[in-house]
Amino acid sequence: MLVDQLLLLARFENQKQNIVPESIYLNALILDILTLYSDKINAKKLHIKFKAEEDYYIHSDTYLIMIILRNIISNAINYTNAEGDITILLSKENNKTICLIKDNGIGIDQEDLETVFNPFYRSRSSEHPEIKGTGLGLSIVKRISELLHVKFKITSEIGEGTTVVLNFGENMKTL
Ligand SMILES: Nc1ncnc2c1ncn2[C@@H]1O[C@H](COP(=O)(O)OP(=O)(O)OP(=O)(O)O)[C@@H](O)[C@H]1O
Ligand SMILES: [Mg+2]
Repeated sequence: MLVDQLLLLARFENQKQNIVPESIYLNALILDILTLYSDKINAKKLHIKFKAEEDYYIHSDTYLIMIILRNIISNAINYTNAEGDITILLSKENNKTICLIKDNGIGIDQEDLETVFNPFYRSRSSEHPEIKGTGLGLSIVKRISELLHVKFKITSEIGEGTTVVLNFGENMKTL
């Protein structure tokens, strides 16, 4: 996994990577990702709420959008204690498609909210040695979000949890 992530990061280092835009059905993509992590979700007895009032489609690169959502959702799963709650909400605001991923996990220090996007940076990792990771996920998410013009916001509070908001925009057909 580390090698995969490093290769991916290297691919984005300089040039525009081939983006293959197509219609993506977000509702199904999110369910696929949750299925991918079902063992861990069950083992930790996490309560997952997935709310989507309608069918949400965006026009973008399926593979890259998958990488973004997988990293954010896997963080929510990893950094939330047993029996914690994770909410995933798809919605539209001003015609823009929004995906919110909220957990009630360990949270991130205010002063680390920028640094967590640096490659290999792991916040307070000595305080949670049982949670494994390489610190590459969010740096890749940041790269890809810039490339695909996905707006990305992360807010967090220690002991309260973390909320990530992805704004996929109104119409990504311009890619
Ligand atoms: N939902 C979250 N709750 C609490 N801390 C988080 C959350 N998401 C990210 N973090 C913090 O940000 C750091 C960086 O996250 P990132 O996804 O880049 O790396 P990682 O999860 O440590 O490793 P990996 O490369 O396997 O994803 C994490 O080590 C963790 O400290
Ligand atoms: Mg991660």
